[in-house]
Amino acid sequence: MIKVAVTGAAGRMGSGIVRKITEQEDMEVVAAIEIPNTPLEGKDIGVHVGVGELGVEIVPSDKLEETLKASGAEVLVDFTIAPAAVETIKIATACGVNIVVGTTGFTDEQMESNIKNVEENNVGAVISSNMAIGVNVFFNTLKKLAPLLYDFDIEIIEAHHNQKEDAPSGTAMTAFEVIANELDRDPEEVGVFGRKGLVGKRTPEEIGVHAIRGGDIVGDHTVMFVGDGERLEIKHQAHTREVFIAGVIRAIRYSPNAKKGVVSSMNDVLGLE
Ligand SMILES: NC(=O)c1ccc[n+]([C@@H]2O[C@H](COP(=O)([O-])OP(=O)(O)OC[C@H]3O[C@@H](n4cnc5c(N)ncnc54)[C@H](O)[C@@H]3O)[C@@H](O)[C@H]2O)c1
Repeated sequence: MIKVAVTGAAGRMGSGIVRKITEQEDMEVVAAIEIPNTPLEGKDIGVHVGVGELGVEIVPSDKLEETLKASGAEVLVDFTIAPAAVETIKIATACGVNIVVGTTGFTDEQMESNIKNVEENNVGAVISSNMAIGVNVFFNTLKKLAPLLYDFDIEIIEAHHNQKEDAPSGTAMTAFEVIANELDRDPEEVGVFGRKGLVGKRTPEEIGVHAIRGGDIVGDHTVMFVGDGERLEIKHQAHTREVFIAGVIRAIRYSPNAKKGVVSSMNDVLGLE
């Protein structure tokens, strides 16, 4: 049994991860950590997320070190906010606990600190801003297709719900960067974000990126490789947040055997090149 501690255990992702772990035969939740001064402190995490009593009380993150030691956690999963995650990673790695981190928004300095802590404490680590299995295969597929279709026109179209505030999506930007890097094109120069008016003819190098917003679309990403007389489209569609959680479960399973002292990616978890 892999003993798992979860920080941000009562959050949207944290709750889903706790629920999913209870469905696995090879792992169990041994610690649930939340922000200090929460009214949830002392409550059973299983009851809170709706799977019944697990005998694991929610504890504040200022008791993280003693909680990790007392629970015998082997892996800590963090879905919180970047400044909190940096501290959590520091403490967990110092305790020799492997980490799976999905929290986004780290500055370069924060990410450097995370990497340093993983290296110095020689633990297994998976850090990824997108743990969806299909999305990672999507990026990997684009990496392989781009050099084969280098002289096709490439356009990226993403669609999201009408509450999303930023555009284009982070996933569309990663797809764009993967393709630009693979084709040795400068991302600063080849991105065309939407077109309007007399923009002139398309150049062969440019990569168009377009955003659609509407209703309750969770997240669609399509990359079109358009040649003369044919086109190839690669599309990923996310239906629910569950896609991320499925990836987290794979990362938890991978982490005890992950290469120590380095930060692994979802490519490593999924065995993608
Ligand atoms: N990697 C991925 O695939 C992926 C997928 C979805 C979301 N995310 C990221 O995961 C993070 C969490 O997302 P969410 O939607 O679950 O947010 P959320 O706000 O629902 O949950 C975050 C939880 O962290 C807790 N928290 C805050 N500070 C803490 C601290 N110091 N110690 C312990 N707990 C603390 C909060 O109380 C909250 O319960 C975000 O950064 C989000 O971008 C990543």
